[in-house]
Amino acid sequence: MIKPLLKEFEAPFLTFTRDNRLPRTIAGKTRRVYDVLSTVYPLSTYCFHSRAHKIALEMSGIRNGMRVLEVATGSGEMFRRLVRANRHGATVGVDLSPNMASKTYRQMRAEYPGVDAHCQAVDARYLPFADGVYDAVVCCYLLELLSTPDIILTLEEIRRVLRPGGTLTLVNIGVNGPIFTKLYRAAAHVAPAFWGRSVDGRVNELVGACRLHIYGERHVRQSGYHSRILAARKG
Ligand SMILES: C[S@@+](CC[C@H](N)C(=O)[O-])C[C@H]1O[C@@H](n2cnc3c(N)ncnc32)[C@H](O)[C@@H]1O
Repeated sequence: MIKPLLKEFEAPFLTFTRDNRLPRTIAGKTRRVYDVLSTVYPLSTYCFHSRAHKIALEMSGIRNGMRVLEVATGSGEMFRRLVRANRHGATVGVDLSPNMASKTYRQMRAEYPGVDAHCQAVDARYLPFADGVYDAVVCCYLLELLSTPDIILTLEEIRRVLRPGGTLTLVNIGVNGPIFTKLYRAAAHVAPAFWGRSVDGRVNELVGACRLHIYGERHVRQSGYHSRILAARKG
């Protein structure tokens, strides 16, 4: 099933170059790195991601009472925003790193004891949910860590679990500023399992290839770090 799908998506309208293709997803290493960093990771979110998270929530159209999934919760800063906005709905978070998933769950539970919210250690490429069960999916800073075929697999999985008309809000690293771009490339070269590589510039194409229709786009800068937010809908 997946092989013909990948073949189809490796059609000429997607341009792979040496620079933009992570040869393979190094999930084992990524999982170990994020497991180790789970205690200090909130600092990085606070300094670089919180503004993008806030705007992503605004763009997502998430309303209280929905069924919401966050893919790649990290240490749970966005997840807690989602739970706060969706107290009467159901909110689920997944992350490859068991330490990240359990940290996110514990902290959320301490802050919001009675809400319908759960976290699991799950690989985003194979989501353990039935078709069409979510109204909205949010995914921040994950695609950089996946190879191009795995980005397509993951976006296809997200599309599968969304109901028709459901929304995907994606946040990725933006490569706008030349200094930031240089620093990011250097960091990614040294620690690819943590930083991945930029997918900016190809994300719209990949999202479109997975039949998700983009209806909103914003650039955000925080402490010199650039993010790009995309809002898309399953037709
Ligand atoms: C850069 S962090 C972003 C965390 C959070 N979304 C945020 O906005 O701060 C990337 C996260 O993706 C998770 N991750 C990496 N590969 C994954 C995969 N295949 N499936 C699920 N999560 C993954 C990592 O464990 C890590 O927590």
